[in-house]
Amino acid sequence: SAAQKGGYKHFMLKEIFEQPRVIADCLAGRVDRNSGRVILPELEAAEVPERLFIVACGTSYHAGLWGMYLMEQWAGIPTRVEIASELRYRDPILGPGDTVLAISQSGETADTLAGIHLAKARGARVIGLCNVVGSSVAREADLVVHTQAGPEISVASTKAMCSQLALLTLMALAFGQRKGVLPEDAAKNCVPGLEHLPAALDAALPGMRQRARELCRVYAEARSFLYLGRGLCFPLALEGALKLKEISYIHAEGYAAGEMKHGPIALIDPKFPTFALAPIDSLYPKVKSNLQEVQARGGKIIALTQPGGDLDVDHPWETPAAWGPLASFMLLPALQLFAYEMADYLGKDVDQPRNLAKSVTVE
Ligand code: G6P
Repeated sequence: SAAQKGGYKHFMLKEIFEQPRVIADCLAGRVDRNSGRVILPELEAAEVPERLFIVACGTSYHAGLWGMYLMEQWAGIPTRVEIASELRYRDPILGPGDTVLAISQSGETADTLAGIHLAKARGARVIGLCNVVGSSVAREADLVVHTQAGPEISVASTKAMCSQLALLTLMALAFGQRKGVLPEDAAKNCVPGLEHLPAALDAALPGMRQRARELCRVYAEARSFLYLGRGLCFPLALEGALKLKEISYIHAEGYAAGEMKHGPIALIDPKFPTFALAPIDSLYPKVKSNLQEVQARGGKIIALTQPGGDLDVDHPWETPAAWGPLASFMLLPALQLFAYEMADYLGKDVDQPRNLAKSVTVE
């Protein structure tokens, strides 16, 4: 009903706009502002993983890929990320001493549960990262961290991913602190940066939505999009493409920007737009040169960037400043809003896209 949607046209829009609150809730009681320490009592009993297998599906899988970068960089934990439906039919090198992190919004995804069963059968320890309290993942995991995003109604996942990224950030910080390997820059800047996010994102969302509306009208004829990013923005590119596919039914492909030259570049022409993620980080010059390659072939470009950028593209889209990896928390809602506005503009059923289910409990 309209009341449940809190005045928003769709649940998806409502949930996108809830993300500042979701981040604040994820942080509440879990960070100590003065010492910068992260408190995750759920994990206190467990040793820091020696290596980590992240297992998930769909959007949760993209969150897992994103988390891998921080687990390695901040906590020195060798991490791999597995699509659950693949892992379950492999013969993975997995056993006692290994840790599996199963990520699931619903906690009921059949493939992810099968991954948990396989891990347990082999003696690995399972940590669940899930949103629904009392769900199968929460019950079957040895340890559970809850994402606390609140009920997510829209089939296309938005705020749940935001909460997964927030908790993965906290877990990487916590493991890095416990091992004593957390880089100084992260130790100093991450907690204050996280605490700054809710208000900054809240202030930015209406403008982001407006920009998404304008841009979707410019690109509504496109049959296909290429989403490009590097580093943490590679999983975000995958997620941006997934959101567009799921709800607007426009084909989109997410690619590691540096891999474009090995294939997708052959597709570039004036009718095949690129949606780039170009925050001002150490990879910015690399992404910039990838975008010049696109332009040299007549490709149109929307590029999410940050203040201080100097991109000369058709449609630069500046998102608010955020410290280092936390830029992702600004980029993600922009990707979600672009897909949302496109689907709504094209008259699609945003909250109930055809052929999709909120939770896939059968194989
Ligand atoms: C379905 C949903 C997706 C979700 C995926 C994994 O495909 O439509 O939005 O990302 O399942 O769900 P989970 O609940 O395990 O995160």
